[in-house]
Amino acid sequence: MDVLRAATTIGRVWRHVFLDAFLAPRRFRRLMPELRSICDAEYHPGIADVAVFDLPGKGPIQILDLDGSRGGMYSDDLYALLRVVRWLKPRRIFEIGTYNGFTTAHLAINSEAEVYTLDLPLELAGDLAGYTVDEKNLVHRKDQIGSFYRGLDVRERIHQLFGDSRTFNFAPYCGSADLVLIDACHLYDWVISDSDRAFQLLGESGVILWHDFASIADVTRACMHLAKKTLIFHLQATWLALHARGISIPGSRPVASGNVPASHETVLG
Ligand SMILES: C[S@@+](CC[C@H](N)C(=O)[O-])C[C@H]1O[C@@H](n2cnc3c(N)ncnc32)[C@H](O)[C@@H]1O
Repeated sequence: MDVLRAATTIGRVWRHVFLDAFLAPRRFRRLMPELRSICDAEYHPGIADVAVFDLPGKGPIQILDLDGSRGGMYSDDLYALLRVVRWLKPRRIFEIGTYNGFTTAHLAINSEAEVYTLDLPLELAGDLAGYTVDEKNLVHRKDQIGSFYRGLDVRERIHQLFGDSRTFNFAPYCGSADLVLIDACHLYDWVISDSDRAFQLLGESGVILWHDFASIADVTRACMHLAKKTLIFHLQATWLALHARGISIPGSRPVASGNVPASHETVLG
């Protein structure tokens, strides 16, 4: 959506919302989070959209299960992520947030990469101070983490790591990843912390992807904060944001809000 049109529409909606806050406060509280997430999806100044179909690397993509019952990413997001994988042909992938390993398996079967994936099992989690109920519900026992990929041949290329991404020692992996996927705790401070680690994990060239951008408010806010210092794109019609180092992004245009940093890392295509 054109930025100006989005801003006008959203401005109009917000005026009604604030009126509601006085006239119907209960409805206001119920609808607020939903409205905020819709606004984030449509309007994220400083982060330009890139069409997934503009990315090179067309070719067969293997998806194992489309019925949506296995957790992990929605098919549209998974497809976009795997288009990036097909395009970049990464040799080392680092995923922060394994869950049942559905996405991990797809990263492996659609590449020849060694896939490192980190998750925080309940056994190591302590009291999860600061986590919301939704975030706590995503944390599982060690034997449940990665259950999806365990029966697959690609399992040999998947390296399961356990620990809290805020305290984990990433040093052995720094500077070596071609693709980093951030999809662990979705709270602002955790996303910022995982992003800092992801920038360290990247090698001379590669990409970082954030899942749940434009879907979960804290992830969107964290990406918008990072976009003040470095270029981040939204993969249109998905919940993925992308940063590229040393790689040209096809179809990208300069961001609209004028906050492109003077020395950004991405080479515009
Ligand atoms: C949304 S799920 C990951 C989904 C997975 N990437 C996929 O697409 O199938 C989030 C995962 O992050 C893990 N997690 C939460 N906090 C974490 C932390 N501090 N460090 C590492 N992993 C964490 C949870 O245990 C959960 O498995």
